[in-house]
Amino acid sequence: MNELLPDGGTIRKLWIGETDAYRDHLLRLDGESRYRRFSGAVSDEIIVRHAATASGVGVVVHGFFVDGVLRGAAELRQNGSLFSREAEAAFSIEQPWQSHGVGTELLERTLLSARNRGIKSLRMDCLAENRRMQQLARKFEAEFSFDFGSVTGEVDPPRSTPLSLMREAIADNYGIASAIFELQSRLFRPA
Ligand SMILES: CC(C)(COP(=O)(O)OP(=O)(O)OC[C@H]1O[C@@H](n2cnc3c(N)ncnc32)[C@H](O)[C@@H]1OP(=O)(O)O)[C@@H](O)C(=O)NCCC(=O)NCCS
Repeated sequence: MNELLPDGGTIRKLWIGETDAYRDHLLRLDGESRYRRFSGAVSDEIIVRHAATASGVGVVVHGFFVDGVLRGAAELRQNGSLFSREAEAAFSIEQPWQSHGVGTELLERTLLSARNRGIKSLRMDCLAENRRMQQLARKFEAEFSFDFGSVTGEVDPPRSTPLSLMREAIADNYGIASAIFELQSRLFRPA
């Protein structure tokens, strides 16, 4: 797990209290990536407010970390109540780490989380000219029913199984272990 990610990066879920790291990551996006992430121009203030809601109920954010810094994220947000079967997903990877497979890994984790939460329909808004996001979604075509002639993709994740629940639990445990390892390396790094 994670061995193919660039710069020895790791992927794990963000914890409560890491919304500042999410905010800083979103603010670091270059202009074009920011525009694509939010399907339009957004101010810093909107990003700050948006990131603050990431620890809310029904939101799962997977993060891609390099040297303890959040460089990519996939946000899964259930629409309405926690029991809603519909959700939206959005992706953001800082420019130097784009096109290295991070988005593929993040989408796979997001689909697994959606599946284990009983999500029936997962929407990903994306600008019509965003070829890379469309290519990324097409890699999961078996699980998708979408029409990319338009700008929205609809995913229909298969139902959860004991195995899919176990896969997410294993990934979570791996995420905790790698975060502890990362913290220790930073604490004991020679000054
Ligand atoms: C869109 C985004 C999430 C994709 O993630 P990524 O890590 O760059 O993509 P990956 O490296 O996993 O590549 C996924 C697929 O896209 C295609 N792709 C990769 N780089 C590409 C490029 N420069 N141009 C066109 N297609 C490209 C490939 O088909 C690739 O799959 P493959 O390598 O197996 O052939 C990321 O680039 C990003 O955050 N962009 C800015 C914000 C954004 O557009 N968000 C999406 C809207 S929510």
